[in-house]
Formats: sequence, C-alpha cells, structure tokens
Amino acid sequence: VREGPKRPLVGVIDDGTKTVRFVIYEAGRSDELVAYQMDKTEVQPHEGWSEQDPLEIIHHIKLCAENAIDQLVELGYTKDDIVALGITNQRETTIAWDKYTGEPLHAAIAWNDIRTDSTVDAILAKIPDRNKNYFKNICGLPISPYFSALKMRWLKDNVKAVRRASRDKRLLFGTVDTWIVWNMTGGPHGGLHITDVTNASRTLLMNLETLNWDPILCRLFGIHRDTLPTIRSSSEIYGTVKDGSIVDGIRISGILGNQQSALVGQNCLQAGQAKNTYRSGCFLLYNTGTRRVQSTHGLITTVAYKLGPDTPAVYALEGSIAVAGGAMKFLRDNLRLIKDVVQDTEHIAGQVFSTGDVYFVPAFSGLYAPYWRKDARGIICGLTAFTTKNHIIRAALEAVCFQTRDILEAMNKDCGMPLAKLHVDGRMTSNDLLMQLQADLIGIPVLRAQAWDMSTLGVAVVAGGAVGVWSTDKWRTHATLNDTFLPTTTDDDRDARYTKWKMAVQRSLGWATT
Ligand code: G3P
Repeated sequence: VREGPKRPLVGVIDDGTKTVRFVIYEAGRSDELVAYQMDKTEVQPHEGWSEQDPLEIIHHIKLCAENAIDQLVELGYTKDDIVALGITNQRETTIAWDKYTGEPLHAAIAWNDIRTDSTVDAILAKIPDRNKNYFKNICGLPISPYFSALKMRWLKDNVKAVRRASRDKRLLFGTVDTWIVWNMTGGPHGGLHITDVTNASRTLLMNLETLNWDPILCRLFGIHRDTLPTIRSSSEIYGTVKDGSIVDGIRISGILGNQQSALVGQNCLQAGQAKNTYRSGCFLLYNTGTRRVQSTHGLITTVAYKLGPDTPAVYALEGSIAVAGGAMKFLRDNLRLIKDVVQDTEHIAGQVFSTGDVYFVPAFSGLYAPYWRKDARGIICGLTAFTTKNHIIRAALEAVCFQTRDILEAMNKDCGMPLAKLHVDGRMTSNDLLMQLQADLIGIPVLRAQAWDMSTLGVAVVAGGAVGVWSTDKWRTHATLNDTFLPTTTDDDRDARYTKWKMAVQRSLGWATT
C-alpha cells in the first residue's frame, strides 16, 4: 500500500496488436499502480492477411478490468476511486458493424494486413500519375494498405454483409477506439459513435487542417460520412460507461492512438522533441507543435494530440516501421530459433560480436516509411557456411536499429536539424543489447524511459487532465528518464554498415512483383 493520502485513480484500456491491458494509475504518478494483461488471437487466413476478433477485444477488456480491480481492492482501494478512463489503441485497424444489432460484420482487419494491395492499385488508377502522395497535403499520408480507408473500401467491395448493411443504412465503421467506446457506452442501445483526432488522422479520410472528414477523400474511397464516427479531441469527457461491466458508471475522458499516447507519456510536449516506441512495429514521432510539416522524405504527417475541444491540435512527423518486435516473433514462431522474444534475443545475439555481415530486412508487410513499397518482401542476405542462428538473431535486432536510422535520416532532412538524442520506450527496450546497438548504429545517445509502457501513461495523463485530476503543465516538468546508452562506434564504421543495410533493402524492393 502506498504512503500518504490516497489520490484519485485513472484507469487505462490499452488495446495493442498482440495484447489487451488494463492499467490503473494514481493521478500525477507515472508508475503503474496495478495492471492486468491478456494475449489476443491473431488469425492469418491467407498470406499477408491479419485479422482479430472484435468481440474478443471487448471480452478481454472486461476480464482485464475485473482482474486489475481485484488487485486494487487488495491495496485498499475500491473501483469508485477510479475517476476517469482513458483508451489507447493500435491504430488503423478497422472494424465494420451493424448499428442495430451490434454484430461485427467481419473480423477486424489489422493495420499490418496487406490484403488491400489491389485496392490500392484500383484507387491509384483514378489519380493523376498514379501518384500515391497526391493527397498528402490534405491528410498527411500516402495511399498505402496500412491506412483504414483502404480496409473500409475492401470490406465494402468484398463482404456481402457489409454491402447489405451499407444499403440498409445499418453500417458503422470505426478504428478500435471507436468500437470500444461504442460498446462501452451502450452499444446498439445508444452507444457513442466517436473517435479522437489522432485515430482519425490515420484513416486517410481526415483533413489535417479542418480536423474533419474530407469530402474529396470520402468520395474517392466511396465511404459515406454517416458510417464514420464524429471526430473529438483527445481529452474531454465523452460519456459514461453503460455496459454493466465492473467499470460501469466511470467517465471516459481520454483517447489517443498508442504511438501518440507514448509521445505524451514520454513528455515530448514541446516542438522539436521526439520518441521511438519499439513494440510489434516501431514508430518514431517528432513533435512539430501547431505546424503541419509536410515531409519530402517519406515520413507522414499526423495529429499528435489535441488536449481539449477548444485547444489547437498539435502535429507530429512520423516514421512508421511495420516490423520490429514482429521480427522476433517470426524467429520464435516460424523459425523456432528462440523461445522468448526479449531475453533470448539478448542472450543468444550477445554470444557473437557481430552479425558476420548478415543483414535481415523484415519486410513482411512491404516496407513502410520512408520507402512505402508494398512490393518489398523480407530477405536475409550475406549468409556463409560460418553463419549461425546467433548471427541471424543479431541481424534481426540490427534491422530494427537500421530501420530507425532510415527514419532519422529522413527526419533530419525534413526538419533541417539533426536530432541530438533519442527517447525510447516499448516492450523491446528492456533488451540492453538492442539499446546499445541502436546507439551504435545511429551515433546519438539513446535515452530509455523508466517504464517500458509509455502508451498507457500518456492517455492516463490526458484522461486525468479532462476531469481535473492530472495537470499536463506539471506533467511537462516530470522526468520519466531512466538509462542512457551512448554510441561506441566511429562514424566510418557506422556508415559502412548502414551502406550495406541500404544494399540489402534494395534487394528486398520489388520482390513481390518479380
Ligand atoms: O500503427 C500501428 C500501431 O499503432 C501498432 O502499435 O504497439 O500495437 O504494435 P502496436
């Protein structure tokens, strides 16, 4: 039990790609009071497809909340001490459901699913020069299978139940935050159909200036405005839970996509601050303040947060990497080289001093930033009779670091000023070897956050802020830093290895079309 007077509590629902968590914080404190986590089922019915069960997400949230609150009670609190709930989620993952029955009309299509490859081609065919960046000045994004509009279009084109629901005006679309809020606030009996600006900015349908659905983009993708949620800020009281669950009656007052939430959790609330989160993917966000910076080097422009209905939106440049921890999972589940994705990779890769010139480009979903090539595929190159699994595992770790360097190179060019240090968080950052490799391969200090999960902390701050128990101003001065990893390599060594990485990337491009 904590010392001192009890503080109000803030609960957080975190729906990630692989897990659901329910975390409870004391307002104003950055360490988790209690947490409960469950794994999710990923279904891959075809190569490149990745689906989740929308009902499992809701089921897991309820179970995680019950288990976390059980722990809370053991600490002498009650659930009534929770004064606000925040939601942070995997972004872009798309769900279609029937507004009158609440039934999902298809599995959730995950953000890294690449089934919409030909949908992208069909959309590009309507655009001058088939230019995937044609609408970037409106929505900040290239046309890519990653973003939700493509998944909505695919659902309308390929799923009879979605087409029928659309015809009968029963269809609702949403990213996962929307699905969760709709279910928790009453579902078919009056659930709120809302999303926040950060999630909306990942759909390819939101105009970054008006912060509303863009009529030109909705028309291009054939998505009706009535099927889309209302866009709200990231921090305001949206409504109260009305689902009969253990958190019934608590106000929902914060929503942030998980990468934006980590930016807030890392305290990167000033223009010029950046963080990199290493989970199944890896996402580097650079706060550009109220300025929308258009990248000319393959990054995307996204909303970082909007801390209330009447405050201006803050934007970020983002470098999105589809596969980071996902490559370790591949080594564990597909190649069976390791048993544990964090400890084994550190231990086994640490038994060799280099990769022996092996390079691994884990382009399982094509390559995202800065390449945006859906035709790229994974390769491992540089193998010799001397290569062992240790070298391959080390090459997988280095791939995460090289991809981060790709993003940093682009970001430095776009911003005109090189980043002097990199704040990091996410499950993979507990791997010290990875952190040292990262510092060595980018040549700047890597600053690891005190807790690996900054995504839940960020939305706890904004949800607490909306009900007046957590001040984001005080938050600005709060230090979340723990360890620093300094580079130990020379510029020449670093650049030589990076040149080889770029050669490996070149070999992965176009693989899916040859
Ligand atoms: O854009 C996808 C991202 O939000 C996924 O995050 O951490 O669940 O892999 P994560």
